[in-house]
Amino acid sequence: MSELQVDAESAFLETVLYSSRAMRRLEPEPVPEALLLKLIDAANQAPSGSNAQQTRWIVVRDPGQKQKLADLNRLHGAPYIQPEVDQPRDAKHKRLVDAVVWQMDHMHEAPALIVACYDYDEPVSGGDIYRKAGSVWPGIQNLLLMARSLGLGAAPTTLALRDQAMVRAALDLPETFAALCMIPVGYPSGRFGPVTRKPVSTIMRFDRWSQ
Ligand SMILES: Cc1cc2nc3c(=O)[nH]c(=O)nc-3n(C[C@H](O)[C@H](O)[C@H](O)COP(=O)(O)O)c2cc1C
Repeated sequence: MSELQVDAESAFLETVLYSSRAMRRLEPEPVPEALLLKLIDAANQAPSGSNAQQTRWIVVRDPGQKQKLADLNRLHGAPYIQPEVDQPRDAKHKRLVDAVVWQMDHMHEAPALIVACYDYDEPVSGGDIYRKAGSVWPGIQNLLLMARSLGLGAAPTTLALRDQAMVRAALDLPETFAALCMIPVGYPSGRFGPVTRKPVSTIMRFDRWSQ
């Protein structure tokens, strides 16, 4: 591989990494199945503890099924977000809250709601639901980055999944499954832009945490 190719690849990766923000406003236009499969294939390349590969993906496209998940998102999301709707911290926070409310109102119209699950191979409940959650998130991040590189909007969400019994009933999941993240996917209404994060100087130290 030529140096030029390596430079181009790392520049593209950098563009994707630094502009993969939560895209909540999505167009209802369907996403081709081949692209949805590409997202899951990318997710499936991620590492997992002991290489157990127990993450399972439900790609929800059926309108009735999407409505069930949208209803769960509203059930748990509305009381959570209401205090922030009433009292946003500042203009930037208000933009975030507006986008969360927009997503709540339009969740059922997203072309696909992708639910990331972990299969424990035994019934799981309570705090155990999050025991191996760490093995699911690298796949979710792969999916988000692949979505960005394909020009698709996506955002990780968890509010709809607060009651696992309700999610299991909605999606017909075995009781060995924990649903850990729901990612609405579609063509973005807005434009991709740079993410804003705290400067590295405030979030890392070399060798030990001292000032
Ligand atoms: C573990 C986790 C849970 C999240 N849950 C939700 C959620 O339920 N609803 C939502 O709208 N966004 C959710 N998000 C998205 C975050 O709000 C978003 O990533 C963060 O505000 C940064 O946004 P940005 O990448 O656009 O800057 C979640 C993100 C993570 C990592």
